[in-house]
Amino acid sequence: DTLDVLVFGSAIIDFICYTPRLPKAGETLHGHKFQTGFGGKGANQCVAAARQGSKTALIAKLGADTFGSDYLCQLRAENVNVEHVQQLDGQTTGIAQIAVSDGGENNIIIVVGANNLLNASDVRAAAEHFAKSKVLVCQLETPIEATMEALRQFSGISILNAAPALKQTPTELLKLSSILCVNETEAALMTDVKSIDTISEANAALTRLIELGANTVIITLGKLGAVYASKDASRDYELVPAPIVPSELVLDTTGAGDAFIGALANSLARYPDLTLADHIAAACEVASKSVQQLGTQSSFPHA
Ligand code: RIB
Ligand code: NA
Repeated sequence: DTLDVLVFGSAIIDFICYTPRLPKAGETLHGHKFQTGFGGKGANQCVAAARQGSKTALIAKLGADTFGSDYLCQLRAENVNVEHVQQLDGQTTGIAQIAVSDGGENNIIIVVGANNLLNASDVRAAAEHFAKSKVLVCQLETPIEATMEALRQFSGISILNAAPALKQTPTELLKLSSILCVNETEAALMTDVKSIDTISEANAALTRLIELGANTVIITLGKLGAVYASKDASRDYELVPAPIVPSELVLDTTGAGDAFIGALANSLARYPDLTLADHIAAACEVASKSVQQLGTQSSFPHA
């Protein structure tokens, strides 16, 4: 009775407006489509792994509102173990306001609500899950102290998706996770690099994140794929290219990073003999499929 992937993190309802382009400050735009969806990086990553075939469990907080109840049903339908997903009285389920442009770019505001109450005692309450899981996945949409406790209590492979990124990420957080995974924007913020547009800038950020305490670092680079490096590997940094998706097929990149993390966790848990480059390639493939469908979880492929 083992679990492949345990996710300790967020669950959020997404309100997505599709619009010709992203609005400027102070600007009002006419969008052309609206959709609600099940989101939040934690739940997204969990569902992405489950759809790839992993036995998964989520530890998360929802509000005692209809959003929360609907979300619980949805997670059960996705075969996610929800023994430790709680609906809290007097709290609202987290929500995300998302704009997606015709070019497939997005921006997001989150109001995490009940997610803010995920805490260290939830780690202790779910000790059984921690003991029997192969891979633990955390993000930064829930309180950081609890995330650190989750990482401390876990002895398998842990992935920290440091998103949304902090300018000053606590060193302990970086040291505690086996794998730190961020996108190019998050890596730039964390390393004080202005922007990461090239592979060599990405490699510089890898070096910096390892100097800051990370063990293994993966930086996703959108359509380029991902670069990775490890503290104790002597060889050069490596780029794993993503499958090419013609730009007219890119509909919505929202949640692509979560599809990547979920697929990465699935691959690490179920195919332990593969190399990290193989795991990353599998993750790129799943992410590249997700950008060709609208929405977050609704866009994640089944294996
Ligand atoms: O990574 C995408 C997710 O970020 C969305 O589902 C939204 O809920 C935000 O948390
Ligand atoms: Na998508």
